[in-house]
Amino acid sequence: MKIVLGSASTALGEKIAELTNLEKVTVAHKTFPDGESYIRLEGNVQNEHVVIVQTTSTAQDTRLIQLAFMADAAKRNGASKVTAVVPYLGYARQDKMFLQGEGISIETIARMLQAAGVDALLTVNIHAENALKKFPFPAKTLSAIPLLAEYFVQKGCKKAFALAPDKGAMYIAEQAQVVLGGEAGHLDKQRDRHTGQTTQTAEGLNVKGQTVIIFDDIISTGGTIVGAAKILREHGAERILAACVHPVLVGDAEKRILDAGVEEIVGTDSVPTHVSKVSLAPLIAKALKAQKSG
Ligand code: R5P
Repeated sequence: MKIVLGSASTALGEKIAELTNLEKVTVAHKTFPDGESYIRLEGNVQNEHVVIVQTTSTAQDTRLIQLAFMADAAKRNGASKVTAVVPYLGYARQDKMFLQGEGISIETIARMLQAAGVDALLTVNIHAENALKKFPFPAKTLSAIPLLAEYFVQKGCKKAFALAPDKGAMYIAEQAQVVLGGEAGHLDKQRDRHTGQTTQTAEGLNVKGQTVIIFDDIISTGGTIVGAAKILREHGAERILAACVHPVLVGDAEKRILDAGVEEIVGTDSVPTHVSKVSLAPLIAKALKAQKSG
């Protein structure tokens, strides 16, 4: 097994290689004047199970194309198997046709990766596990929530209330609760599929005087966390913190969240930002070691 350091996740790939003792393959990449991507693997992958680490946040389209090109290059240069480790899997939220006329973006991505030579996929906290069924090859998701919760335990937040901003994320709050040892609950969120606008409500939420950590898979515009923080303040929460696996943080999301009274935002290096205080490397390394010995 060898590990290919995709340009979107070089630092994370390095850490995983260190924890697994896997040999690294670096990648030369450039962007042509017209915007097209070029990649070249700088190591021998003949007869190797190749693990490509490449997140697909931010410039999703470019990073997905680069991933496909790396898989193709690996196969053309003799790799026996290609596993794509994609910490943040872009387009996973479009896993069904919500409105007439739409497609299923994640299924298109899955087929594209298969055509490029990917044989297996490992991701982290995919938005909905349903999306994994769209892959024509083995696809698995890991959870970084225990690692995030452990970060807060180390910061003295044992027994904090774990809050999911919507019912769908309750499983996330429950995973955090196991580590934090406090209570857990969720808000309810409705989304207008045409405008994208959301409204949140709380029923029977008792967080008065508590330290509350809002756990979510993604923070994108920050609207969900800002709305949740408002409700928590109205319900008398003493301290509000926010954690997510994928800190996409579009535009001024971080400022809006902090302005809404959230003390700290904590994310992982699935999307490398200055709030990425928790590394996914140990989680991914453990999964790869199990694959290697399995
Ligand atoms: C949606 O259901 C997700 O779990 C997140 O809550 C959502 O993607 C966050 O987006 P935003 O930060 O734009 O509210």
